[in-house]
Amino acid sequence: MFITTKLPSGRAGRERSTLSASLRGLGTPYVDLWLVHWPPAGRLLTLVWQEFLAMRDAGRARAVGVSNYSLAQIDRLIEATGQAPAVNQIPWSPARYDPALLAGHRERGVAVEGYSPLKGTDLADPVLAGIAAAHGVSTAQVVVRWHLEHGVTVLVKSSHPDRIAVNIDVSGFSLSPDEVTAINGLSRR
Ligand SMILES: NC(=O)c1ccc[n+]([C@@H]2O[C@H](COP(=O)([O-])OP(=O)(O)OC[C@H]3O[C@@H](n4cnc5c(N)ncnc54)[C@H](OP(=O)(O)O)[C@@H]3O)[C@@H](O)[C@H]2O)c1
Repeated sequence: MFITTKLPSGRAGRERSTLSASLRGLGTPYVDLWLVHWPPAGRLLTLVWQEFLAMRDAGRARAVGVSNYSLAQIDRLIEATGQAPAVNQIPWSPARYDPALLAGHRERGVAVEGYSPLKGTDLADPVLAGIAAAHGVSTAQVVVRWHLEHGVTVLVKSSHPDRIAVNIDVSGFSLSPDEVTAINGLSRR
């Protein structure tokens, strides 16, 4: 189990009480990862981050990070505190592939967690279908594996237990550099 929870939008300024409520609700003394769900406006951006670091240092979260932040906003956190978020959780999928954005996170030591990997993807796309057929897997598995080939943590969701099991069963194959490049080419950026 790896437990992540977030500071919801509108809770800026009430970080400590919000995390305490989350921990009580989860029945755990700490979470593995605590994220700011959306970047707060103005000075709150860095003030919230300072509170996050304090709560991490107090042992209430093993790691702290952000979600839906731009690189410029991450730079403001680093300038203010000298500490980068462990993670930025952002929408990611072949259609959103952006090598400069990925490199920017890597340079700052921030792990990318990609959300909505399938929602933004045409699972009937012939490029994905061809690669899936070559490996004897589903196109959803190809998309999940493509994230891992790029070092992106992938948050894939399903309400069907059988799909959940198949979607994460991606350790039995890997994509060749040519296949990764072909999927990168589905980017609409
Ligand atoms: N930080 C943020 O602001 C933010 C925003 C959005 C989401 N998220 C996180 O990201 C996670 C995933 O996001 P998401 O739900 O938007 O995206 P997703 O995992 O890309 O898409 C889920 C959709 O794909 C379908 N699906 C799953 N497996 C499939 C398969 N093998 N074949 C065909 N369809 C399949 C699901 O339908 P069924 O359920 O019917 O299988 C569901 O409709 C969420 O759990 C959430 O925690 C974060």
